[in-house]
Amino acid sequence: MMPDIETLYTETQIARRLEELAAQFAQDLPRDIMIVALLRGSFVFAADLLRAMHRTGMHPEVDFLTLASYGERRVSSGEVVIQRDIAEPVQGRDVLIIDDILESGRTLTLARDLLTSRGAASTRIAVLLEKPGKRAVQINADYVGFTIPDRFVVGYGLDDANRWRELPYIGAIKG
Ligand code: IMP
Ligand code: MG
Repeated sequence: MMPDIETLYTETQIARRLEELAAQFAQDLPRDIMIVALLRGSFVFAADLLRAMHRTGMHPEVDFLTLASYGERRVSSGEVVIQRDIAEPVQGRDVLIIDDILESGRTLTLARDLLTSRGAASTRIAVLLEKPGKRAVQINADYVGFTIPDRFVVGYGLDDANRWRELPYIGAIKG
């Protein structure tokens, strides 16, 4: 059954913001930057962002890293583990890590530490969404699509128990 979902950002608003982010990447980052997209939540964001990057003349290399926090409930739990590793070497590469949402910061901290420990020349972080005031560890994103209030959101790749990723907009579940 479809729960009551309040639209926070429409398809059009998201698309417009992604063009802005890509324009910033084109100014700041090497054209052949290596992207590590965190699965599963960032796959829609990453797919659209990559094509926006193409339109700026960038040609990134792309890999995927699947991380999971134990007990995946609506409340961010403690431990994050690697479920599926990247396939490409990151030694000496400038890396842009892409994720859906920065909340406690544990997921992105693990991703960044892992890539740094493998010799990445630099790591930057781009997230679609950020919930301020929720950080359990000190970490900031270099690029943020939208800063949102402390509500549970779904759509555009984000899930509730692995559902609603297909929604083309970002919405908050009411109640
Ligand atoms: P962190 O490790 O606490 O920063 O959490 C990041 C991960 O928690 C994200 O990659 C999401 O998978 C999940 N998450 C956090 N907040 C939400 C939300 O509002 N909706 C859906 N997933 C969320
Ligand atoms: Mg999730």
